[in-house]
Amino acid sequence: QFLTVVHPTPHVIYLTRHGQSTYNQLGKIGGNSPLSPAGEEYARRLGAWVMPYVCYQQAAGLDSLTKTRLWTSSLQRTILTAQHIPHPIISEEDLGTPSVPPEPDADDALANGAALADPRQLAGRSSGLRGTPPRANGLRERLRSGGLSGVVGGVALGGIDLDSDRGGGGDRDRVWQQMAPRVYRNLDEIFAGECEGMTYEEIQHSFPSEAKMRATDKIGFRYPRGESYLDILARLDPLVHELESYHEPLVIVSHQAVLRLLYCYLTGRTRAQAPKLSMPLHTVIRITYDGWTPPTEERFYLGPECSQTDGQTHL
Ligand code: F6P
Repeated sequence: QFLTVVHPTPHVIYLTRHGQSTYNQLGKIGGNSPLSPAGEEYARRLGAWVMPYVCYQQAAGLDSLTKTRLWTSSLQRTILTAQHIPHPIISEEDLGTPSVPPEPDADDALANGAALADPRQLAGRSSGLRGTPPRANGLRERLRSGGLSGVVGGVALGGIDLDSDRGGGGDRDRVWQQMAPRVYRNLDEIFAGECEGMTYEEIQHSFPSEAKMRATDKIGFRYPRGESYLDILARLDPLVHELESYHEPLVIVSHQAVLRLLYCYLTGRTRAQAPKLSMPLHTVIRITYDGWTPPTEERFYLGPECSQTDGQTHL
């Protein structure tokens, strides 16, 4: 389906699986488990990595501020993985500026008891500053990170309703919330139906003929009361159209099967190649494409080390 969508403008997409989950540790599939300690550490590392490498484009060898987007699935392991990603408010005039060393004033003002207008601003402030690497802590950006605006330095957001601006600038391009998290059920992992929460060995034992069918036709096989890879393709279709309409670098935190399909689309591979592709944990894959030249790919392993098999040693 979406393999036929054209994409003639430059795009930069960052794909990452969630940090290791407790189900990953146990070799269980599906479910909605939280992160393991290693997965939590990945979330922290990702939160610190995103600002310099995505927002300031250091992954492209640049050092200038650009607008960015963030999508997660609706499952807690992706939302938890994205939890340390800062989402400060920036304005048009900030774009293109290099990252600058931190300036002490804003923190000093906070330490001095500068008032915060409401809890939403507090949430915005803490997520905007926590995890932000020093080089990305420009004062102007920090003032617009949601908490200090209107309080320190007189920087006002002009009554912008932040909620309506989440995920992009809407029709008001003056301000932009970086990495405003957008949650999509379309990005949820393949639903394994009656096999949810089982290990591959348990599936082999309880559903031997289904396990055989899946081994024969992994992309077309639909789990009992669950989904197939082809079903995921169908639900990714509208999302890919949306993705194609954006120009800002986009970070997608999702799951193995879903990312295999997106990766194949973005890199020009066939969907038949998807089900057995390697989609390692604790790694960000940066894909650039413009529809004219061959797509390029770069992988950033952030660690920490963890088992990469997910119980899939039999595949
Ligand atoms: O094991 C992690 C996981 O994301 C499972 O939740 C999911 O069922 C599986 O990977 C998808 O991979 P495969 O299609 O190879 O079984």
